[in-house]
Amino acid sequence: MSEFHSKIKTIEWVKTASGGHSLMVDQTKIPYAFEKVEIKTLKSMYNAIKTMIVRGAPAIGIAGAHGCALFALELLSKYAPVEDLWKNDRTIEDKNLDKNQRSLFFNELEEGLNYLNSSRPTAVNLSWAIGEQKKVIENSKKLPLATVCTNLINNAIKLENEDIEINKKIGNYGAEVVPKGAGILTHCNAGALATVGYGTALGVVRSAFAKDPSIQVYADETRPRGQGAKITTFELVQDGIPVTLLTDGMCSYFMRNKMIDIVVVGADRIAANGDTANKIGTSTVAIAAKYYNIPFYVAAPKSTIDLSIKTGNDIIIELRDEEEVTMVNGKRICAEGVKIINPSFDVTDNALITGIITEYGIFKPEELKYKIK
Ligand code: MRU
Repeated sequence: MSEFHSKIKTIEWVKTASGGHSLMVDQTKIPYAFEKVEIKTLKSMYNAIKTMIVRGAPAIGIAGAHGCALFALELLSKYAPVEDLWKNDRTIEDKNLDKNQRSLFFNELEEGLNYLNSSRPTAVNLSWAIGEQKKVIENSKKLPLATVCTNLINNAIKLENEDIEINKKIGNYGAEVVPKGAGILTHCNAGALATVGYGTALGVVRSAFAKDPSIQVYADETRPRGQGAKITTFELVQDGIPVTLLTDGMCSYFMRNKMIDIVVVGADRIAANGDTANKIGTSTVAIAAKYYNIPFYVAAPKSTIDLSIKTGNDIIIELRDEEEVTMVNGKRICAEGVKIINPSFDVTDNALITGIITEYGIFKPEELKYKIK
């Protein structure tokens, strides 16, 4: 087995003397090409998130953490440039800075972070990661500006590495509920390429496959962006895990014909009552699974759980460009004048969810608010 997932990091910080930059897989190119792009500024990170060069809630979170560090470096070169960010004595560069310049640095940084947070609204991992970086900034307020930058970079790298460990824990818990020889249906991509590595829903698949190579995956195509067809099948084929591609809407055929034993999907934001926003089409799958009495699991890290909102009604659903629906491979596929609404996510009601697989274990939707702090 080639174990593609263990060889790649979807997004990683590359350290250089001047601080470094973010290096990420360009997901808009898969499966036609596997290319990485360097992201060096706040603006280009905003665009990478918005245009889905980086996508998937946990990967977007890490992109947010990187973006904070990148912008701090941009501001450092404006207010207190350094030759080598990693050398030990940082006080020298700050000696010519007056109080006003320091507060300008922190004010601009705050504005930049809020701008980055507005790049995509639904996946809470973005604001969670930016929030983690804001804590670092708060704790570094009295330190030399170069140290603020190194602290932000080190924290981004820490979050990056933790993501893979968390996904492996999710995978191991989830594998316990996958029946022997199961047909596992998934929607969208919640794999290594939607995280830093290993994946959430596909982490469950990977851990289950390691124990039982007779499992089969059924991957929904996931219109309009095709994450299932383009990315999920790519990842699974690379890892030698058997996968069948379904077009959206086929799932009830496979369920009725007893080919699906369990559904496992990822999540973009989970409310305190367990209502879950995930890629558009997820709730349709959950409704069909309920009808056919098939267990429906959500696999997601704590950073995707938003206890500040009570129900899924409070989740902002991103509306994307209508061309994602009307155009395929640069060609219009419908009549001019047709109306389009293109919600990128939907909310699956907690009543449809058998369990939420986290790095702390598997919980019923109603247990989340007591078990996750
Ligand atoms: O619009 P995307 O591709 O960012 O949406 C991704 C999804 O909906 C994923 O299923 C979700 O983020 C979970 S990723 C581990």
